[in-house]
Amino acid sequence: KRLAVFVSGGGSNFRSIHEAALGGRVNGVVVALVTDKPGCGGAEHARCNGIPVILFPKSKSSPEGVSLTELLNALRNLKVDLILLAGYMKLIPVELVQAYPRSILNIHPSLLPAFGGKGYYGLKVHKAVIASGARYSGPTVHFVDEQYDTGKTLAQRAVPVLANDTPEKLAARVLHEEHQVYVDAVAAFCENRIVWREDGVPIIRSRR
Ligand code: GRF
Repeated sequence: KRLAVFVSGGGSNFRSIHEAALGGRVNGVVVALVTDKPGCGGAEHARCNGIPVILFPKSKSSPEGVSLTELLNALRNLKVDLILLAGYMKLIPVELVQAYPRSILNIHPSLLPAFGGKGYYGLKVHKAVIASGARYSGPTVHFVDEQYDTGKTLAQRAVPVLANDTPEKLAARVLHEEHQVYVDAVAAFCENRIVWREDGVPIIRSRR
């Protein structure tokens, strides 16, 4: 399958997926990196690896960016099958969600539906988890709908919250699992191993 990854930050999830694709663990190829932050680590990594970088959206600080129509055309021309949000900090336009039904995934650093939604990003998530007294946290891979963090959950991993945790330590422990669970979920998509239960819940079939 042909993958486009959306990134605003360091891009460690993007890198692990790209490596998995190069190494054959994911039966796919990263054909574009979309970013609102042309100087971010993810964009840098894409340029170093010959992956086309698309700047989106066009804004005052990024006048060289592309419009939504241009983005949709570019993704269509690249024959993108799957869009992966990996630390992309902007809400995805409805038109994009509708153009890629059941074909956009996001990773979030908590066990959704807990600690998700607009205010929950970065270390704020982990701070809130620790303050709540929850004993487990962990990443969620979910399909993307029109709102933040509300699409159907595809995969999760449990990570213990320790008695002396700091948001930074918990974030690092969760991030490590993010890399595994996202690669596994993308591998499943690329092998057509995602089945939709009658009630609309996506399930990953194991390899036969
Ligand atoms: C991750 O914590 C992810 O869950 C969240 O943004 C962060 C991205 O990290 N959506 P990276 O840029 O992949 O290192």
